Amino acid sequence: SAMSLKDAYKNEFLIGVALANKDLTNSSITTIANNEFNTVTAEFGMKMTSILPESGVYNFAWTDQLFGFVKKSGHFVVGHTLVWHKALPEWLFCDRMGQKLKRDQLLLKLQQHINTYVGRYRGQVLGWDVVNEAFNYDGSFRNSPWLEIIGEDYIEKAFEFAHQADPNAELYYNDYGLVNPKKQAAVVALVKRLKKKGIPIHAVGIQGHYSLTYPDLNKLDKTIARFAKLGVKVMITELDVSVLPFPGVEERGEDAVISAERLIELNPYPNQLPDEIQQQLTSRYRDLFCVFLKHQSAVSRVTFWGLTDSRSWRNNWPIEGRTDYPLLFDRALNAKPVVDALLELP
Ligand code: XIL
Repeated sequence: SAMSLKDAYKNEFLIGVALANKDLTNSSITTIANNEFNTVTAEFGMKMTSILPESGVYNFAWTDQLFGFVKKSGHFVVGHTLVWHKALPEWLFCDRMGQKLKRDQLLLKLQQHINTYVGRYRGQVLGWDVVNEAFNYDGSFRNSPWLEIIGEDYIEKAFEFAHQADPNAELYYNDYGLVNPKKQAAVVALVKRLKKKGIPIHAVGIQGHYSLTYPDLNKLDKTIARFAKLGVKVMITELDVSVLPFPGVEERGEDAVISAERLIELNPYPNQLPDEIQQQLTSRYRDLFCVFLKHQSAVSRVTFWGLTDSRSWRNNWPIEGRTDYPLLFDRALNAKPVVDALLELP
């Protein structure tokens, strides 16, 4: 098709893609990123362990490279992510003597970090995933050094610090599993709390690590509507649709033992995707986009978590070493049938 995704959806929402560090120097990938997408997110290049390695000295090299790239390409940048319970350098939470920091010390460190990093790219970022994945499925606060040392208000502090560092950047709360009623309620309460306190929050990011059956479309529809009603934008921030079976919780553990037969069941398409499943993937994406389009006044961006199946994290999550087909471009970088289907929708 002659049209690009970003043009097809220009009146509806931004179309984004996550880029891994090595994608930036792969011209086949940057060409597609330029043609089809107008927004980029760093898949891991802007996470804390990437920019604050063991040395304790900031490494801005890749982020600088990303901003150099978008200066030419014109993509919007979404910063991902300031506060998360993963990708944390351990020393961050200790003083020089190796003692665990106290609340005030860690708050200061967080503020300085956000000032340094957000401040460095001030005016160049559309918005930040300020806090990522802060809640459990039961709606409680997820355990992390941030929660443990600072307390529940680490979230609002992070939003305040980000706003101080770049007053014009949009600020997002990002999470997965938001169709879950209790988790959703916790995020609704968070948005209300921030708004009541006058702390800026502009959008809720719904990650969108989906499958051919999860989530239920009706629940997704209601979830988007619920957040939209709060007066924040909604973004689908990390979309991918796995075609593989989702292993049980006991099979996902780090020391899980999975039999050879079971592995074949869990990895049914090691060589190529059968046509029938390809068609299911296409119609699943079409159905999802119909829900997004229904809420186009609230949904401001849909970002795919990668460009080609060959580099998708879904090949290694929730278990490692499978062959998945979750994205828009196949392993030879050809557009899959789903691309044409999405182009026809709006
Ligand atoms: C994942 C990346 O895709 C991987 O490459 C990396 O090793 C781990 O993180 N939720 C998020 C993303 O917010 O940052 C995660 O990305 C996927 C789950």
